[in-house]
Amino acid sequence: MAEKTDGGAIPAHIAIIMDGNGRWAKRRLLPRGAGHRAGMNRMIGLSEHVFDRGVKYCTLYALSTENLSSPKEELDGLFSLFREFFPANVDRLKKKGITLRVIGDRSLLPEDIVSLIAEGEADTAGGARGTLALAIGYGGRQEILSAVNEAVRRGKEVSAQEFSALLYTADMPDPDLLIRTGKEVRISNFLLWQAAYSELYFTDVLFPDFSDKEFDKAIEAFSRRERRFGKV
Ligand code: IPE
Ligand code: IPE
Ligand code: MG
Repeated sequence: MAEKTDGGAIPAHIAIIMDGNGRWAKRRLLPRGAGHRAGMNRMIGLSEHVFDRGVKYCTLYALSTENLSSPKEELDGLFSLFREFFPANVDRLKKKGITLRVIGDRSLLPEDIVSLIAEGEADTAGGARGTLALAIGYGGRQEILSAVNEAVRRGKEVSAQEFSALLYTADMPDPDLLIRTGKEVRISNFLLWQAAYSELYFTDVLFPDFSDKEFDKAIEAFSRRERRFGKV
């Protein structure tokens, strides 16, 4: 939750809406799948850089619940990339002391991917350098609803802190900085509860082109923001 972060120059938690893969491919007259591959490669590169900057939590929006209604061909391509990502990256993350975590509704994902996620999380558990959270099959409203329903099942009113603990992001601080690449200026069902006081940063750069340098620009912009949390 917000109070765990100090609002210093380096955000403790950065969340990124990785948008623009399709348009990146289209500009190159390539199929959309080529854009998703380029996006995944950039995501891997960025996951190295982010923790070098001192960030402790990085949450990356990879697949929304709404994206699950994409045409089968597109979805199959994305699932193939996830099938590649876990075996190819879990060891590297583990060696770097990065804990991998996946947030979202796993019942919406193919079983073999759910197994890869569970293995990846178990293998990297306890990594002290930072947490890389991938939002896959994630929807902010769905997350809030499932927390509400859990609270109702427990039959007792909950505080904001108790409610946060019922979300997929339990134990993670709220994002200090929320970045969206790819020109659109919207949240698209990402971290609706958690982003209440996040600083927002929008860039036209399409995600496959979102270089380490572009990322540093976002951190620099953050360091110039004054966070007031409703106080004068
Ligand atoms: C973002 O790229 C990644 C996913 C949604 C999986 P898009 O596929 O949304 O790319 P654009 O917005 O069409 O360019
Ligand atoms: C948001 O991008 C989801 C991810 C980046 C995973 P979309 O491309 O799906 O969002 P909209 O449709 O532009 O709102
Ligand atoms: Mg998009």
